Amino acid sequence: MINTHDVLLRNRESLSGRVALIGPDDAAILADLPVEPGPVITEHFGTFQRWQGLQGWTPLFGYDDDALAGDSVDSVVIFMPKSRPELELRLALAGHLAKAGGRVFLIGEKKEGIAGGARVMQFTFPDATKIDSARHCQVWEAPVPAGLSGFDIDAWRSWHKVRVGGLELSVAGLPGIFSDGRLDEGTALLLGSFNGQAVRGPVLDFACGAGVIGAWLAKRQDGLNPDAVDVQYQAVDCARATYARAGVGGRVWASDGLAAVEDSYRLLVSNPPFHSGVRTDTSMTEAFLRDAARHLLPGGELRIVANSFLPYPELIERHVGPCETLGEDKRFSVYRAFRR
Ligand SMILES: C[S@@+](CC[C@H](N)C(=O)[O-])C[C@H]1O[C@@H](n2cnc3c(N)ncnc32)[C@H](O)[C@@H]1O
Repeated sequence: MINTHDVLLRNRESLSGRVALIGPDDAAILADLPVEPGPVITEHFGTFQRWQGLQGWTPLFGYDDDALAGDSVDSVVIFMPKSRPELELRLALAGHLAKAGGRVFLIGEKKEGIAGGARVMQFTFPDATKIDSARHCQVWEAPVPAGLSGFDIDAWRSWHKVRVGGLELSVAGLPGIFSDGRLDEGTALLLGSFNGQAVRGPVLDFACGAGVIGAWLAKRQDGLNPDAVDVQYQAVDCARATYARAGVGGRVWASDGLAAVEDSYRLLVSNPPFHSGVRTDTSMTEAFLRDAARHLLPGGELRIVANSFLPYPELIERHVGPCETLGEDKRFSVYRAFRR
């Protein structure tokens, strides 16, 4: 069992009344919590799909849903997210959901930065104290003061401008989104590879993040309205906002890999997710490349940017077609292949 989930079970007697959980990975623990079930929130669409059919609990995708009513639960459990801004968002949401006098819990592993997370918690909940430390994890608990109700996702959305190839684009951001506030170097190299070349649609921007690639392609070429998918709630929300502000008509929706994509495309373009663990794990991208061929029209193009050390050319050759390198810098390479 995941350490943080195990430690929550050790502390289950501290929970009371109706309970909300923000960001657990595995819903198997829910059956062992002796509480009144409430909302279980994830920003990962694949996880959300796995939670359908949970007994009593209400699975929610993301941080904006009518079911997230103020003062509606007695205890909220927050699992440490990867970024501090997303932790701040989760704490604000917890303060909104919990009744005054209720309890908020923060659980995380040391390697996830729980010590720093606890200090962030104390800004919103000054009386937070550590109630357990086990299995490389800590559990912090705080009483909920009055006056924290009110949560509006729009208040968390920010905007920044990016400029590439003579085009300026306003890009939306939310806590936890990829490369918030700046254009990623790999994405910039990928966009540069189009260098005046006309693109034939239909286009899909896979793993779109805030929608930079699709919106930029649409802005430089009238009539191109790329579709876009991402697994993360913040990405889907921000890509929709970026598209709307740029007047791009493409559809944006949530998909874990290409599972929720039905159509086939003439161009599949991506700065795909990478695994940043101790060992390189190419399984996610391998699955994407294998499925990509199924979503390319005959002769359709796959174009991706990736860290140059990753063995993607072989995978592209195996699953799509002969692989060309269109551009590279010290860290990244842009690869292209046409479906055989
Ligand atoms: C390297 S970022 C690129 C974002 C954006 N295209 C850009 O260039 O700024 C990779 C994106 O992959 C998304 N992602 C991770 N796993 C995914 C999956 N299984 N299916 C779809 N998208 C995924 C992440 O949420 C993230 O937005």
